[in-house]
Amino acid sequence: MNEVSPPVSAASTAPDDVLDTVLAQRYSCRGFLPQQVARPTIERILELAQRTASWCNAQPWQVTVASGAATDRFRDALYRHATSNPADADIPFPREYRGVYLARRRECGFQLYDSVGIKRGDREASGRQGLENFRLFGAPHVAIVTSDEALGVYGAVDCGAYVSTFCLAARSVGVATIAQAAIASQSKFVRRHFGLGDDRLVVCAISFGYEDAAHPANGFRTRRAAVAETATWVDA
Ligand SMILES: Cc1cc2nc3c(=O)[nH]c(=O)nc-3n(C[C@H](O)[C@H](O)[C@H](O)COP(=O)(O)O)c2cc1C
Repeated sequence: MNEVSPPVSAASTAPDDVLDTVLAQRYSCRGFLPQQVARPTIERILELAQRTASWCNAQPWQVTVASGAATDRFRDALYRHATSNPADADIPFPREYRGVYLARRRECGFQLYDSVGIKRGDREASGRQGLENFRLFGAPHVAIVTSDEALGVYGAVDCGAYVSTFCLAARSVGVATIAQAAIASQSKFVRRHFGLGDDRLVVCAISFGYEDAAHPANGFRTRRAAVAETATWVDA
């Protein structure tokens, strides 16, 4: 078990402090130790994530969890496929990042590049770092999250909520995660590799395991906008 971010204990902490702590400890991990997560720990994460709310309680998420040799087989095949085929996502990727969204996207990109020593404008190096997505950042496990095609956008919304709960649940038991839409850029390949039905939309993947705290890609934390930038009060 990694010692840097120990599991959160609720024993002597107020409920909102527990949530605050888990939220503060979670970050997107881009460098993992090879150590496998024990099956009961993964089962606990899945049980907690199962509590996610969804429209009509449809719970449209299905999750395919790979471990050990199965992760390595997927990693190798995905990397080969993604580096020689165009993107082919079930759910359209953003049309454009504009205004403040572009600024935030740039900021977290630069944070990552600074952390791993990539100079601004070095397209080759930033491209190489981007391809680490298809190596699952070295994670020993990956969870593929899919939705029922018939539920459309709201099925994907429910799955997004599930991804968030999964990542927080994992953090609460000392497991690091990263949600990866990049994997969904190869939706058909992912479906074929894992034998998923054509009615399943690949929403994203979650690579997970124990964090390599010394990995430079884990050496930064993203900021959040102030509430005043996102909330509008209507009182009268
Ligand atoms: C649905 C979703 C998809 C994401 N896809 C990727 C991805 O493909 N590659 C990646 O490096 N990070 C990905 N991220 C991580 C985000 O970049 C990260 O959550 C964001 O920069 C905030 O940083 P934090 O998670 O460390 O707080 C994704 C996050 C979410 C929620």
